[in-house]
Amino acid sequence: MNILIINGSPKGEGSNTMKLARAFLSGAGWDNADTVAVADAKLTPCSGCFSCWRKTPGACVIHDDMGGILAKIIAADVVIWAFPLYYFSVPGKLKNLIDRQLPLNLPFMAGGNASGGHPSRYDLSRQRHVIISTCGFWTAEGNYDSVISMFNRYYGAEKCTWILCGQGELFRVPELSSRTGAYLDTVRRAGAEFAAGGIGAETGTELALPLYPRDVFEKMADASWGIAENGEAPTDESLSFTKQMAALFRPDGTERVLEFCYTDIDKTYQILLTAQGSDVITDNFKPYTTRIETPFSVWRSISRGEISGQEALFRRQYKVLGDFDLMLRWDELFGAPGAPKPTPQKRLPSEAARKANMAVLLIPWMAIWIGVAIYPVAGGAAGIAAAALMPLIWLLFKPVLFERISAAAVAGLSLAAMLGQDARAVVTLSYGAFGLMWLAGAFTKTPLTAHYSASGYGGGKAFENPLFMRTNRILTAAWGVLYLITPIWTYILMGTRASAYTGLINSACPALMGIFTAWFQKWYPARWAKG
Ligand SMILES: Cc1cc2nc3c(=O)[nH]c(=O)nc-3n(C[C@H](O)[C@H](O)[C@H](O)COP(=O)(O)O)c2cc1C
Repeated sequence: MNILIINGSPKGEGSNTMKLARAFLSGAGWDNADTVAVADAKLTPCSGCFSCWRKTPGACVIHDDMGGILAKIIAADVVIWAFPLYYFSVPGKLKNLIDRQLPLNLPFMAGGNASGGHPSRYDLSRQRHVIISTCGFWTAEGNYDSVISMFNRYYGAEKCTWILCGQGELFRVPELSSRTGAYLDTVRRAGAEFAAGGIGAETGTELALPLYPRDVFEKMADASWGIAENGEAPTDESLSFTKQMAALFRPDGTERVLEFCYTDIDKTYQILLTAQGSDVITDNFKPYTTRIETPFSVWRSISRGEISGQEALFRRQYKVLGDFDLMLRWDELFGAPGAPKPTPQKRLPSEAARKANMAVLLIPWMAIWIGVAIYPVAGGAAGIAAAALMPLIWLLFKPVLFERISAAAVAGLSLAAMLGQDARAVVTLSYGAFGLMWLAGAFTKTPLTAHYSASGYGGGKAFENPLFMRTNRILTAAWGVLYLITPIWTYILMGTRASAYTGLINSACPALMGIFTAWFQKWYPARWAKG
């Protein structure tokens, strides 16, 4: 397959559009496509002499790079046109190239549509065209009418495939790479689908989605120029950066005052976060709800994804004072909106969508703690049944190593109870085993509780957050100690008439511990963040 890419951006390979074009080519597996860099080519405008039709049929009288480019176009099976939108059209030099294709046509009035046209000099019926373009406005819709009309008229609508993307300048902003990267992934998928026959409807819909909502984009774009609103003196770099960050805010109904103190440049700004949106103020400050004390360089590196925000906090490269909850919800409030995923029609969640659930870990143990304590044989049977049901439960929830250990331990202890082992010993032993498992779980690579709380802290990403891991390590150890001392009173209790209520009584401590856990997992990171 002969693939030709015509790069019409004056910025050459560094252009926004070429990022999309390269992603498309890599998805299609066409990394070695021949490239015409229009910006570097010697291209004189067409003089309109019609010599290529009359005196030298099929050849232009101007001797520059266009002769070679025409040969490449004739040989190509797929031509990829990559260019930015300039004044609702193509950039001037690319228009020169388009005009200079006149030798490819015969002069006769035939072909085309009702408005007229010229037939092709060559059989290019196999040839397909992919038009990839970015523009500066928030959407491509309504801005490409003249471009669409030109390509569809000249090559035929059925031969043209389009990837038109608004908000093109965002592709050069490292701070926004999570959103633009997701779009480039979709373009890559489009490339793969095109090479396999055609871009699918789902991918087409995703490509048409704006990167950011209009108001967010336009606010961010205005702030990016770093020029005061009256168009005069440039504003401070840290102010325009803060304004761009503020533009990303997605209101959640809560009013907050987020204060930034850039310690290395001695600048402080406040972002007023309201139900309507955000506003950056530089004086007349209000009492803050959250204050971030950080070197500007550190915060910018975090925004660009060069260093992890959690890692930097853990290393005390910045401090957070006041309400720490905002930090826990940062991605939700300031992150890029992801491309909407199609709703899966399947009944069972996919492997990736499954989340670990603490109840899955506890259910088999409950059978022993409650069941065996009251009716040893029936409780034992319930324990074995619960352990046997675990593989089915794992079809709904993400399995965790500790659940597999639990299933095996519960099955063994339940069997012992059914075979007539002393219920008091079995129940006491079960608490001890449970406590040991938790304590050991505090020293494994991922502490036990982290498996269950990760979904509330960004899923798998939470495992890379050292502060999250440390908090969970402490909590897992605390729970381990609680369950290791539980067997002491369990054994005593089961020797009394209150034996049947052991499970119930033993639930009181974990309930209190649960309250402590909920408090600790917020309090500890906040305390750390204060430095
Ligand atoms: C001279 C000029 C004209 C432009 N005209 C438009 C336009 O009409 N509509 C639009 O949405 N963007 C317009 N833009 C913005 C570019 O299309 C946008 O910045 C694009 O992403 C640049 O892509 P590139 O980096 O691939 O060259 C224009 C930019 C320039 C420099």
